[in-house]
Amino acid sequence: MEQKNIYVTQPTLAPLEEVAELMKGIWETGIMTHNGPLVQRFEKETAEKFGVPNLVSCVNGTIGLQMAIRTLNFKGGEIITTPFTFIATINSILWEGCTPVFVDVDPETYTMDPKKIEEKITYHTVAIMPVHVFGNCCDIEAIDAIAKAHNLRVIYDACHSVGVNYKGQSIFNYGDISVTSFHATKILNTTEGGGVFTLNKELDEKLRRIRFFGFENHADIVEDGTNGKMTEVHAAVGLANLKYLDAALADRERKYKIYRDELSKDSSLSFQKINGCCNYSYFPVVFKDEESLLKAQAKMNEEHIFPRRYFYPSVNTFTKLVPYVPMLHSEDLASRILCLPLYYTLAENDMQRIIDCILK
Ligand SMILES: Cc1ncc(COP(=O)(O)O)c(C=O)c1O
Repeated sequence: MEQKNIYVTQPTLAPLEEVAELMKGIWETGIMTHNGPLVQRFEKETAEKFGVPNLVSCVNGTIGLQMAIRTLNFKGGEIITTPFTFIATINSILWEGCTPVFVDVDPETYTMDPKKIEEKITYHTVAIMPVHVFGNCCDIEAIDAIAKAHNLRVIYDACHSVGVNYKGQSIFNYGDISVTSFHATKILNTTEGGGVFTLNKELDEKLRRIRFFGFENHADIVEDGTNGKMTEVHAAVGLANLKYLDAALADRERKYKIYRDELSKDSSLSFQKINGCCNYSYFPVVFKDEESLLKAQAKMNEEHIFPRRYFYPSVNTFTKLVPYVPMLHSEDLASRILCLPLYYTLAENDMQRIIDCILK
């Protein structure tokens, strides 16, 4: 019998009938987009679920990051960010005409090392854009203190962070603006989608204008806007999936712990140090060297299992986009890290096969 392929992730999906029921309403009203009733419901119910005052939904996390940068008005400034991230973090900075300036990561938490931020601050620095890598919170207090001392804004790339609480509140309540992704691979998905969060009412209103071409009250153009709107169809998928968020989070945590317990038997492997709280949305494992990683990956591929080298390579090495500046920890981590399959429908016997490939 042909073996089925096991990929690094699969979307968490509500039963099709539940999505279809919501879709019916769209077909009946003919309202497909433009801040329709389902988008408004998705924003309200999701904000309530996360425990945040507001959510500005948008087409994807990348545009959400761009809208955040534009809302804060950084024309051409330098934005301090991390090299251990998905390229979208850098795309958003470059597309807003700003310059990414890299600060290396802490080798244990994989998030931006605050001790290295101040040496990168110049007259042109306008903001810090750290990433809560794999849902693991950054050193928020240290970053906040540096930002305040230097009058900088903080935009958190929280694209991995749905469901994470830090010190008793949603991770999305931190920073001037936080941005998440509702991409199909994320714990809550709208197929493609993003969410932007801020506690500042003026910024929230500006984000909504920027998302809608810069219109105020559908009349005058008051901002240099874009089309960042989520559609009713995407909101329907998100609303249906929202009901299963708690189950998805609990399942990830349980499976994460199984991997962690089993793989800890091999002392050459290391794991991300969790800073307080995490949503266990990924299972990254770090091998002692790249050769060991490649061997384990080849063994899994033979068994039709496809983990993903994520993030690889370190984004400071994409010299078509940015001038190369060495980032020792990020480059080292990127060369040795592998994200194992982790998703709601992943069977435990398949997890055992993955564990065996690595341990043997
Ligand atoms: C760290 C990080 N930032 C930004 C993004 C972009 O999100 P989206 O795919 O929704 O545009 C991603 C996507 O996976 C990501 O991993």
